[in-house]
Amino acid sequence: MAANDNRHVITVTDPAALAATAAEHLLARTAANSGRVAICLTGGSSPKQLYHLLATDAYRSRIPWQRVHWFIGDERFVPADDPLNNMSMARTAFLDRCAPAANIHPIPTATADPTDPDRGAALYEQELQSFYGADTLDHARPLFDLVLMGVGPDGHTASLFPGDGALDETARWVVGIAKANVEPFVPRVTLTLPTLASCREMLFEVAGADKRAILTRLFAAENLPANRARSTGETVWLVDRAAIPENFGGQ
Ligand code: 6PG
Repeated sequence: MAANDNRHVITVTDPAALAATAAEHLLARTAANSGRVAICLTGGSSPKQLYHLLATDAYRSRIPWQRVHWFIGDERFVPADDPLNNMSMARTAFLDRCAPAANIHPIPTATADPTDPDRGAALYEQELQSFYGADTLDHARPLFDLVLMGVGPDGHTASLFPGDGALDETARWVVGIAKANVEPFVPRVTLTLPTLASCREMLFEVAGADKRAILTRLFAAENLPANRARSTGETVWLVDRAAIPENFGGQ
């Protein structure tokens, strides 16, 4: 990675260790904030093991559920009960059993018009701004305590795809994406880079040998969306051994 890179990479043995380490980061962030905690979840397959872990007794008893609010970084225009719905996946894995319903904040793609993803985005932007209590992000007061992220095979993160103008958005907190680069090829809604950045910690989870090729490109500082996603606080990449590029020296 570039010398001025403010991220740090933590390597772990396998997906189970990755989920356990991510869970400890989440617990540390909730413990560090005695007030209302905001966590932005991610979709895809990478966080599933973490989500299941959070519902187990050992972790469940350590999360102050009443004061933790759960958001999602991006959503696909699929029905609410579709397993490809990112928030539904998180709800099924842990939220519906553990969190008060009022603390779960899905992006309304199931009811919004897929031909107008910007409308669904505007609704979620309003929800985020009302939760935050302002329509301008203050560097000194991050929106989220923790933002979870994943990396796609093309270097996308959330639903911010390479070459998409949404990457340069600085005014809107949330935008509609008419065309996804990867499956499912449905319109999306995604938080923008400044919104995702407004957090105390951004935590990427990357596991498996099929992630090695894209990690090699990302660690070579290629200009890809996942390389542009940075927290105003701490940015951490949790990577398992199978995903680590062969010539990676560790950091
Ligand atoms: C989405 C995700 C997306 C995901 C990556 C990694 O809605 O598609 O939020 O950004 O995190 O594509 O996905 P996997 O974890 O399935 O590899």
